[in-house]
Amino acid sequence: MATHPLEPFRIKMVEPIAFPSREERLHIIQKAQYNVFRIPADAIWVDLLTDSGTGAMSQEQWAALMRADESYAGARSFQRFQEAVQSYTGKRFVLPVHQGRAAEKILAEALIQPGDAVISNTFFDTTVANFRAKGAVPIELPVQASAPDNPFQGNVDTEALRKTLKKLRNEGQRVALFTMTITNNSRGGQPVSMANLRATREILNEFDVPFHIDACRTSENAYFIKTFEDGYAGRTIEEIVRESLQLADIVTMSAKKDGLANIGGFIATDREDWVQTFSQYLVLWEGFLTYGGLAGRDLEAIAVGLRESLDERYLAYRVGQVRYLAEGLREQGVPVLWPPGGHAVYVDAGAWLPHIPAHEFPGQVLVIALYVEGGVRAVELGSLMFGKDRMVEKELVRLAIPRRVYTQSHLDHVLWTFQKVAEKRTALTGFRIIQEPPYLRHFLASLESIGGPYAP
Ligand SMILES: Cc1ncc(COP(=O)(O)O)c(C=O)c1O
Repeated sequence: MATHPLEPFRIKMVEPIAFPSREERLHIIQKAQYNVFRIPADAIWVDLLTDSGTGAMSQEQWAALMRADESYAGARSFQRFQEAVQSYTGKRFVLPVHQGRAAEKILAEALIQPGDAVISNTFFDTTVANFRAKGAVPIELPVQASAPDNPFQGNVDTEALRKTLKKLRNEGQRVALFTMTITNNSRGGQPVSMANLRATREILNEFDVPFHIDACRTSENAYFIKTFEDGYAGRTIEEIVRESLQLADIVTMSAKKDGLANIGGFIATDREDWVQTFSQYLVLWEGFLTYGGLAGRDLEAIAVGLRESLDERYLAYRVGQVRYLAEGLREQGVPVLWPPGGHAVYVDAGAWLPHIPAHEFPGQVLVIALYVEGGVRAVELGSLMFGKDRMVEKELVRLAIPRRVYTQSHLDHVLWTFQKVAEKRTALTGFRIIQEPPYLRHFLASLESIGGPYAP
């Protein structure tokens, strides 16, 4: 039996959940044309759409909000934010941005020339979209799945990296930068080991390529390093985070994840020459250097949140919740990516619903079934989301867990919902798209059910 970690908090303020009935949910999803992004949030029992910006703030964060200084330039809140980011990253220069993709856009504009290659363990969607928009050619070199219990499946394949850099050098191809995404969101939220980060740094030194870390979930990554990597058991999370980020030339972070904030992000670096260029774009697109598109209140929330994310008890609960849900599903015979990563459980819907072909979106079928049967909102990461732009290896459904929001009984409800769906599994049928936009179609597409229990 999976065990749930003790929640390391008491609940002081509550947000009621509405409980529409199954009949109402069926009506809602039909009206939403089977797109869960169109469901009003108050028609959801347990919302696992994303862990980004959906976390609960602590009493210290709310208290910090009251101290916020909303001055346009030089606010005290910026100083506190700057100190917190400097301490988290070990970097000297700090630029605030309103969220992660704004940092990526600035980075792309400043460092990428059209036709440059950019390499990664795996890019997150917004990162690669911003790099592509500047004309870059992306190359992804994730480590090939090794032993099933290898805890660091987010690593880059360092051998392939060296080979690729050698080949590109021989061809006279410029490489603008290498991005390590930690944890590796697009590969199941899998962590990256310190050994892999260090080896990457050495290779990049050899080829004179800048090292960028997309640091959204570095605290969670550090917890995996402390738990599984030799030599780190006695180190603090804070030390491991700083050691990881010190290896990079440039760090970007969406603070909506391990910043434990609802909005915000930053760029951090020691390179004074880059900061001049970044600053120009920051002022142009985001705002003045000491607020970058954020209110003083947001800067305060991030400053406190970053420190709180280093708390080992919190991280044990956080990573433990993901494992609890993953183990519970595995015990029910639901195929999940293993071992589970740091922020979400990824269900292999293609394997669980083998009678539904990829072009009828088995992942979306599961997402809709979870909503109708239990009011649970998840997201498809398969042919509906990616089928237009890239090869889809697996038809996945992601159950992302918001930080400090749900308790064991919410997760037990998700497990119960899967049991309900399992009873109907063979009767479920696929979907077809009836309308879609040219980009990022999953957000706005409309679908219809090809018969089955959820058709009107
Ligand atoms: C790994 C990673 N990088 C970048 C981003 C983009 O951040 P934002 O949503 O704040 O723009 C995300 C968001 O989910 C992410 O998971």
